[in-house]
Amino acid sequence: MNVLITGGAGYIGSHIALSLLQQNHHVLVLDNLCNSSPIALQRVEALSGKKLAFHQGDIRRRADLNRVFNSESIDAVIHMAGLKSVNESLQKPVKYYQNNIAGTLTLLETMKQHQVNKLIFSSSATVYGIPVKIPLCENCDAGNTTNPYGASKYMVEKILREVVDAQPELAITALRYFNPAGAHASGQIGEHPAGIPNNLLPYLFQVANGLRAALPVFGDDYATPDGTGVRDYIHVMDLAEGHIQALKNLQAGYRHYNLGTGQGYSVLEIVRMFEQVSGKRVPLDMRPRRPGDVAICLSDPSSAREELDWQATRGLEAMLRDAWRWQVLNPQGYVVQPVEGEV
Ligand code: NAD
Ligand code: WQD
Repeated sequence: MNVLITGGAGYIGSHIALSLLQQNHHVLVLDNLCNSSPIALQRVEALSGKKLAFHQGDIRRRADLNRVFNSESIDAVIHMAGLKSVNESLQKPVKYYQNNIAGTLTLLETMKQHQVNKLIFSSSATVYGIPVKIPLCENCDAGNTTNPYGASKYMVEKILREVVDAQPELAITALRYFNPAGAHASGQIGEHPAGIPNNLLPYLFQVANGLRAALPVFGDDYATPDGTGVRDYIHVMDLAEGHIQALKNLQAGYRHYNLGTGQGYSVLEIVRMFEQVSGKRVPLDMRPRRPGDVAICLSDPSSAREELDWQATRGLEAMLRDAWRWQVLNPQGYVVQPVEGEV
C-alpha cells in the first residue's frame, strides 16, 4: 500500500513509518517539522534499508496537501499531524483548534478531491475526560474533556463520524492511545520534547541523566495503592503495530478503538522499575496534585484484540529499557553531532 503519514516525522509517526517500511509498504510523510526533525526520517530509512518520500509542508495549507496527493497515488492516510501539549492548549486554544481541527478539515477535503477513502486518525484517551468507570471501554461516555487539546480530539472524532454518514465510501478508524512510552529497540529513534517536559517519562529521564535535579511527583494522596497516579503506558512499537492492524482491518464506516495494555502502573512503580533497569537513582520532589489530573486512567483493550487482532506484547520493563537506551545514545535528541575538527 502507498500510505501517507501526516506528522510522520514526530515521535509516534516515525515509529509507524519504520513498521510500515519493514512490512514493504511505501511511505509518504507530510510534516511541517514544528515539533520534529528530518533526522528522525533519515534514521528510519537507515534502520529499514528503504526510502520514503518526505514532503515538508502544513496540513492547513491546501497547496501543500495537493502537492503530496499529486506526487503519487495514495491508498490510505494515517493522520498524526497535530499539537499535543495539554498545558499549551489551555493558554492557546485557538492555535490548537486551528491546527488540529482546521488542519483535519483541509485534509478531509483534499482526500475527497483525490478520491482517497481510507483514514486512520490519532485520537487519545483524553477524549474520555474524567473517567466515570475503570477500565475505560469504547462505549464509555466520552466528550467531557477538560482542556482544548482533548476537546480538539473529541471534536475531530465527531466530525469523522458525521463525514462518514455523508460519504459512505469512507473507511475511518480512530485510535485512542493511552500513555505512549518507549522507543525503538535500536535506540535510534525516540521522543525528545522541546523545553521542560510535561510528561512523566521524559522528565524522569532528564533527572536520571543529570539535566534536572529531582522528579516532581504530583500527588501522593490519590485513591491508588501507593497514593500516586496510575496510568496505562503503552510501548510506541506496540502502538505502531496497532496502526498496521487497523489499516489491514479497515472497513467502510467509522470505528474507534482503545490502544492500551489494560495494565496500570503508578508513578512510584515506574520510578522503582526505572531505577532497576538503569542502575540510576532518581531523587523525588513530592508536590501537590497537578490540576486536571485523575487518579487512574486505564484501558479495556479487548475490542482491539477481538476486532483488529492486535494486543500489546511489550511490558513496562521493555518501555523503560528502550527509552533509556534512546536517551543515553541521544541526550540532546536529534541534534547533528559536529564532525571532529569542525569549529
Ligand atoms: P509529535 O509532536 O512528536 O508529532 C506530531 C507531528 O506533527 C510533529 O512531527 C509535528 O511537526 C507535526 N505537525 C504538527 N502540526 C502540523 C501541521 N499543521 N502540519 C504538518 N505537520 C504538523 O507528537 P506524537 O507524540 O508523535 O503524537 C502524534 C499524534 O498522536 C498527535 O496527533 C497526538 O495528539 C496524538 N497522541 C499523542 C499522544 C502522546 O502522548 N504522545 C497520546 C495520544 C494521542
Ligand atoms: C502521568 C502521571 C502525573 C509528570 C498526558 C495527556 C494525555 C495524553 C498522554 C496525548 C500522572 C504524573 C507527571 C511529572 C508526575 N497525551 N507526573 N510528575 O497526564 O496521564 O497524559 O499524556 O493525547 O492527553 O494528558 O501523562 O505523563 O503527564 O502523567 O508525577 O513530572 O505521572 O500526575 O499521574 P497524562 P503524564
